[in-house]
Amino acid sequence: MKGIILAGGLGSRLHPLTKVTNKHLLPVYHKPMIYYPLETLVDAGITDIMVVTGGSSAGDFLRLLGNGKEFGLRHLHYAYQEGEGGIAEALSLATFFAESDSLCVILGDNILEDSIRPYLENFKKQQGGAKIFLKKVPDPQRFGVPELDGDKVTKIYEKPKIAPSEYAVTGVYMYDHRVFEIINTLERSDRGELEITDVNNRYIEWGDMTYDILEGWWTDAGTIESLLLANNLVANSKDNRSAVPPESSPSSEVSDQA
Ligand code: G1P
Repeated sequence: MKGIILAGGLGSRLHPLTKVTNKHLLPVYHKPMIYYPLETLVDAGITDIMVVTGGSSAGDFLRLLGNGKEFGLRHLHYAYQEGEGGIAEALSLATFFAESDSLCVILGDNILEDSIRPYLENFKKQQGGAKIFLKKVPDPQRFGVPELDGDKVTKIYEKPKIAPSEYAVTGVYMYDHRVFEIINTLERSDRGELEITDVNNRYIEWGDMTYDILEGWWTDAGTIESLLLANNLVANSKDNRSAVPPESSPSSEVSDQA
């Protein structure tokens, strides 16, 4: 299985933080945002990983991540997305990298508490098709929202005015190689993008979509509110609760007492 991290976009919901840099390079507690999805993939045992990015800060990803040595990788692959064509268009840039393998795709601003390894094992058992991951949230209208019928997802609505369930479709997706055939047939949405929700709905139409519900906390970090939430969740997570961030200076000890 190959891993794809989608880290393009303008990050306009985070202006002015993203005026001169890419959203995924911003800090979340003690690490750049892109570290989290990368660690999620590596922790799941995925070592063949491509980062798709774009914009004028794309070169900074190379300087930051290099060949992935810090993450225990031997190589990291990169692709450059020109323009703002959406998540599914960014994913299409991984066509040649993916070959006929299955994929674990993660949005670069998605941060998860738990390992996705068990979910990946579940996906492997289903032999093809796709799998999405849901999480109950207080504001589903901000996300792709699934309509559920027992253990089936019947349709996903992208940022609906009235949410058909209390769940968000998180930005972690597992696909077989047919995902690229689907993307090739997609039409642009009203906002001019190729939508990942349209990809997922095609798998649903084919009867080839399953879902799992994430147990640990999950958040995106693409708005000021969710970026703050992400910082707080990471700071209070079991790994960091009692620890001073490794690179912090002695002067930060005062606030650590608080
Ligand atoms: C994207 C997807 C949405 C998904 C969300 C998860 O939204 O379009 O379906 O729920 O990521 O983070 P965006 O954050 O690009 O608005």
